[in-house]
Amino acid sequence: MAHGPILLLAALFLVACGSRPNYDPLDDYEPVYGTMILDAPTPVEIAAENREALSRGEYLVELLGCGACHTDGALIGEPDMERPLAGSGIGIAYTNPLEHRYPGVVYAPNITPDDETGIGRWSDQQIMNAIRAGLGRHGEHRILVMPWQGYAQISNDDAFAIVGYLRNIKPVRNRVPEDVPVGTMAGSPYVHFGIYRSRGQLFD
Ligand code: HEC
Repeated sequence: MAHGPILLLAALFLVACGSRPNYDPLDDYEPVYGTMILDAPTPVEIAAENREALSRGEYLVELLGCGACHTDGALIGEPDMERPLAGSGIGIAYTNPLEHRYPGVVYAPNITPDDETGIGRWSDQQIMNAIRAGLGRHGEHRILVMPWQGYAQISNDDAFAIVGYLRNIKPVRNRVPEDVPVGTMAGSPYVHFGIYRSRGQLFD
Protein backbone atom coordinates (compact mmCIF):
# COMPACT_ATOMS: atom_id res chain seq x y z
CA MET A 1 0.00 0.00 0.00
CA ALA A 2 2.76 2.39 0.94
CA HIS A 3 4.01 2.18 -2.61
CA GLY A 4 0.71 3.42 -4.03
CA PRO A 5 1.51 7.15 -4.18
CA ILE A 6 4.99 6.51 -5.52
CA LEU A 7 3.66 4.32 -8.29
CA LEU A 8 1.02 6.93 -9.09
CA LEU A 9 3.65 9.65 -9.29
CA ALA A 10 5.82 7.45 -11.50
CA ALA A 11 2.86 6.76 -13.78
CA LEU A 12 2.04 10.47 -14.05
CA PHE A 13 5.65 11.21 -14.82
CA LEU A 14 5.67 8.63 -17.61
CA VAL A 15 2.41 9.97 -19.02
CA ALA A 16 3.81 13.50 -18.88
CA CYS A 17 6.93 12.41 -20.73
CA GLY A 18 4.96 10.42 -23.27
CA SER A 19 2.83 13.37 -24.25
CA ARG A 20 5.46 16.08 -24.04
CA PRO A 21 3.72 19.05 -25.61
CA ASN A 22 6.95 20.62 -26.80
CA TYR A 23 8.51 17.82 -28.75
CA ASP A 24 11.98 18.87 -29.82
CA PRO A 25 13.32 16.70 -32.68
CA LEU A 26 16.83 17.68 -31.68
CA ASP A 27 16.41 15.48 -28.58
CA ASP A 28 15.95 12.45 -30.83
CA TYR A 29 18.61 13.05 -33.46
CA GLU A 30 22.36 13.39 -33.53
CA PRO A 31 24.53 14.50 -36.42
CA VAL A 32 26.54 11.78 -38.21
CA TYR A 33 28.97 11.83 -41.08
CA GLY A 34 27.06 11.61 -44.34
CA THR A 35 26.85 8.90 -46.96
CA MET A 36 29.90 7.74 -48.82
CA ILE A 37 30.42 6.47 -52.34
CA LEU A 38 31.87 2.98 -52.06
CA ASP A 39 33.87 0.67 -54.26
CA ALA A 40 31.48 -1.73 -55.96
CA PRO A 41 32.41 -5.38 -55.25
CA THR A 42 34.19 -7.37 -57.95
CA PRO A 43 31.98 -9.96 -59.73
CA VAL A 44 32.66 -13.54 -58.65
CA GLU A 45 32.70 -15.34 -61.96
CA ILE A 46 33.76 -13.55 -65.06
CA ALA A 47 33.38 -15.49 -68.29
CA ALA A 48 35.52 -14.00 -71.03
CA GLU A 49 32.53 -13.16 -73.22
CA ASN A 50 30.82 -10.93 -70.69
CA ARG A 51 33.85 -9.40 -69.02
CA GLU A 52 33.33 -6.05 -70.71
CA ALA A 53 29.64 -5.71 -69.76
CA LEU A 54 30.35 -6.74 -66.18
CA SER A 55 33.12 -4.26 -65.68
CA ARG A 56 30.87 -1.59 -67.23
CA GLY A 57 28.20 -2.58 -64.67
CA GLU A 58 30.69 -2.41 -61.83
CA TYR A 59 31.83 1.00 -62.99
CA LEU A 60 28.22 2.31 -63.18
CA VAL A 61 27.16 0.91 -59.79
CA GLU A 62 30.15 2.60 -58.20
CA LEU A 63 29.58 5.86 -60.04
CA LEU A 64 25.84 5.98 -59.31
CA GLY A 65 26.46 5.46 -55.62
CA CYS A 66 24.25 2.40 -55.09
CA GLY A 67 26.43 1.29 -52.15
CA ALA A 68 25.82 4.55 -50.30
CA CYS A 69 22.38 3.24 -49.37
CA HIS A 70 22.40 -0.50 -50.13
CA THR A 71 25.52 -1.35 -48.08
CA ASP A 72 24.87 -1.61 -44.35
CA GLY A 73 26.39 1.18 -42.27
CA ALA A 74 27.38 3.37 -45.22
CA LEU A 75 24.68 5.89 -44.35
CA ILE A 76 26.46 6.69 -41.10
CA GLY A 77 29.99 6.38 -42.44
CA GLU A 78 30.63 2.84 -41.14
CA PRO A 79 30.18 0.57 -44.19
CA ASP A 80 30.26 -3.20 -43.72
CA MET A 81 32.50 -4.07 -46.64
CA GLU A 82 32.21 -7.79 -45.84
CA ARG A 83 28.64 -7.60 -47.15
CA PRO A 84 28.58 -4.96 -49.89
CA LEU A 85 25.17 -4.16 -51.43
CA ALA A 86 23.48 -6.69 -49.09
CA GLY A 87 21.00 -4.16 -47.71
CA SER A 88 21.00 -1.62 -44.93
CA GLY A 89 19.92 -2.10 -41.32
CA ILE A 90 19.94 1.67 -41.07
CA GLY A 91 16.86 3.16 -42.63
CA ILE A 92 16.09 6.43 -44.33
CA ALA A 93 13.22 8.56 -43.05
CA TYR A 94 11.24 10.35 -45.72
CA THR A 95 8.88 12.55 -43.71
CA ASN A 96 9.52 15.83 -41.96
CA PRO A 97 10.73 15.27 -38.36
CA LEU A 98 9.09 18.52 -37.27
CA GLU A 99 5.73 17.24 -38.47
CA HIS A 100 5.84 13.58 -37.45
CA ARG A 101 7.47 12.43 -34.28
CA TYR A 102 7.73 8.95 -35.80
CA PRO A 103 8.61 9.33 -39.46
CA GLY A 104 8.02 6.87 -42.29
CA VAL A 105 11.22 4.89 -42.83
CA VAL A 106 12.48 2.66 -45.65
CA TYR A 107 15.47 0.30 -45.49
CA ALA A 108 17.47 -0.02 -48.70
CA PRO A 109 17.06 -3.72 -49.56
CA ASN A 110 19.55 -6.42 -50.35
CA ILE A 111 20.45 -6.17 -54.06
CA THR A 112 22.84 -9.13 -54.15
CA PRO A 113 21.59 -12.20 -56.09
CA ASP A 114 20.42 -14.14 -53.00
CA ASP A 115 17.17 -15.98 -53.83
CA GLU A 116 15.45 -15.46 -50.49
CA THR A 117 16.49 -12.02 -49.34
CA GLY A 118 17.94 -10.36 -52.44
CA ILE A 119 17.08 -9.97 -56.12
CA GLY A 120 17.93 -13.57 -57.12
CA ARG A 121 14.38 -14.30 -58.28
CA TRP A 122 13.67 -10.95 -59.89
CA SER A 123 13.45 -10.81 -63.67
CA ASP A 124 15.78 -8.48 -65.56
CA GLN A 125 12.79 -6.32 -66.36
CA GLN A 126 11.77 -5.99 -62.70
CA ILE A 127 15.26 -4.92 -61.69
CA MET A 128 15.46 -2.40 -64.51
CA ASN A 129 12.00 -1.06 -63.62
CA ALA A 130 13.12 -0.54 -60.03
CA ILE A 131 16.23 1.35 -61.09
CA ARG A 132 14.82 3.44 -63.92
CA ALA A 133 11.16 3.86 -62.96
CA GLY A 134 11.20 3.39 -59.19
CA LEU A 135 8.75 0.50 -59.35
CA GLY A 136 8.69 -1.65 -56.21
CA ARG A 137 8.78 -5.42 -56.32
CA HIS A 138 5.09 -5.77 -57.18
CA GLY A 139 5.04 -2.65 -59.26
CA GLU A 140 2.34 -1.17 -57.06
CA HIS A 141 4.23 1.68 -55.49
CA ARG A 142 6.96 4.10 -56.32
CA ILE A 143 10.19 3.47 -54.51
CA LEU A 144 10.77 6.19 -51.97
CA VAL A 145 14.06 7.93 -51.34
CA MET A 146 16.12 6.13 -54.01
CA PRO A 147 17.00 8.73 -56.65
CA TRP A 148 15.51 6.73 -59.53
CA GLN A 149 14.49 9.95 -61.30
CA GLY A 150 18.21 10.53 -61.77
CA TYR A 151 18.57 7.01 -63.21
CA ALA A 152 15.58 7.26 -65.59
CA GLN A 153 17.76 8.12 -68.58
CA ILE A 154 20.15 5.20 -68.23
CA SER A 155 20.39 3.54 -71.65
CA ASN A 156 19.23 -0.04 -72.22
CA ASP A 157 22.82 -1.19 -72.64
CA ASP A 158 23.87 0.38 -69.36
CA ALA A 159 20.77 -0.91 -67.54
CA PHE A 160 21.53 -4.45 -68.78
CA ALA A 161 25.15 -4.01 -67.70
CA ILE A 162 24.00 -3.07 -64.19
CA VAL A 163 21.59 -6.01 -63.99
CA GLY A 164 24.20 -8.46 -65.33
CA TYR A 165 26.71 -7.16 -62.83
CA LEU A 166 24.30 -7.45 -59.86
CA ARG A 167 23.59 -11.06 -60.85
CA ASN A 168 27.28 -11.87 -60.76
CA ILE A 169 28.34 -10.52 -57.41
CA LYS A 170 28.50 -12.70 -54.31
CA PRO A 171 24.99 -13.52 -53.02
CA VAL A 172 24.60 -12.59 -49.36
CA ARG A 173 21.72 -13.78 -47.18
CA ASN A 174 20.51 -10.73 -45.30
CA ARG A 175 16.99 -9.51 -44.76
CA VAL A 176 16.56 -5.82 -44.02
CA PRO A 177 14.00 -4.57 -41.49
CA GLU A 178 10.42 -4.06 -42.69
CA ASP A 179 9.50 -0.57 -43.86
CA VAL A 180 7.98 1.56 -41.11
CA PRO A 181 4.78 3.50 -41.79
CA VAL A 182 4.45 7.13 -40.66
CA GLY A 183 3.37 7.37 -37.02
CA THR A 184 4.96 4.07 -35.94
CA MET A 185 8.13 3.94 -33.90
CA ALA A 186 10.95 2.32 -35.90
CA GLY A 187 12.65 -0.66 -34.26
CA SER A 188 15.92 -0.03 -36.12
CA PRO A 189 17.94 3.15 -36.48
CA TYR A 190 17.51 5.51 -39.39
CA VAL A 191 18.86 8.74 -40.82
CA HIS A 192 16.98 11.65 -42.31
CA PHE A 193 17.34 12.76 -45.87
CA GLY A 194 15.67 15.78 -47.33
CA ILE A 195 15.58 19.49 -47.15
CA TYR A 196 12.59 21.19 -45.61
CA ARG A 197 11.72 24.59 -47.00
CA SER A 198 10.60 27.31 -44.63
CA ARG A 199 7.17 28.57 -45.61
CA GLY A 200 8.18 32.00 -44.36
CA GLN A 201 5.82 32.29 -41.35
CA LEU A 202 8.77 33.08 -39.15
CA PHE A 203 9.43 36.21 -41.12
CA ASP A 204 5.87 37.61 -41.38
C1 HEC B 1 19.62 7.24 -51.65
C2 HEC B 1 19.62 5.83 -51.37
C3 HEC B 1 19.64 4.86 -52.54
C4 HEC B 1 20.49 4.83 -53.62
C5 HEC B 1 21.63 5.79 -53.94
C6 HEC B 1 20.10 3.69 -54.41
N1 HEC B 1 19.04 3.04 -53.83
FE1 HEC B 1 18.08 1.39 -54.54
N2 HEC B 1 16.71 1.55 -53.07
C7 HEC B 1 16.78 2.40 -51.99
C8 HEC B 1 15.65 2.17 -51.11
C9 HEC B 1 15.39 2.90 -49.79
C10 HEC B 1 14.88 1.15 -51.72
C11 HEC B 1 13.56 0.53 -51.22
C12 HEC B 1 12.55 1.65 -51.17
C13 HEC B 1 11.11 1.32 -51.24
O1 HEC B 1 10.75 0.14 -51.34
O2 HEC B 1 10.35 2.29 -51.22
C14 HEC B 1 15.59 0.78 -52.94
C15 HEC B 1 15.16 -0.21 -53.83
C16 HEC B 1 15.94 -0.73 -54.84
C17 HEC B 1 15.59 -1.90 -55.63
C18 HEC B 1 14.34 -2.73 -55.45
C19 HEC B 1 14.73 -3.89 -54.56
C20 HEC B 1 13.67 -4.42 -53.64
O3 HEC B 1 13.91 -5.49 -53.00
O4 HEC B 1 12.61 -3.80 -53.47
C21 HEC B 1 16.62 -2.11 -56.52
C22 HEC B 1 16.74 -3.23 -57.56
C23 HEC B 1 17.58 -1.06 -56.29
N3 HEC B 1 17.14 -0.25 -55.26
C24 HEC B 1 18.77 -0.95 -56.98
C25 HEC B 1 19.62 0.16 -56.88
C26 HEC B 1 20.74 0.39 -57.75
C27 HEC B 1 21.22 -0.56 -58.84
C28 HEC B 1 21.26 1.61 -57.38
C29 HEC B 1 22.40 2.35 -58.05
C30 HEC B 1 22.23 2.56 -59.48
C31 HEC B 1 20.48 2.11 -56.26
N4 HEC B 1 19.49 1.21 -55.99
C32 HEC B 1 20.73 3.31 -55.59
C33 HEC B 1 17.75 3.37 -51.77
C34 HEC B 1 18.74 3.72 -52.67
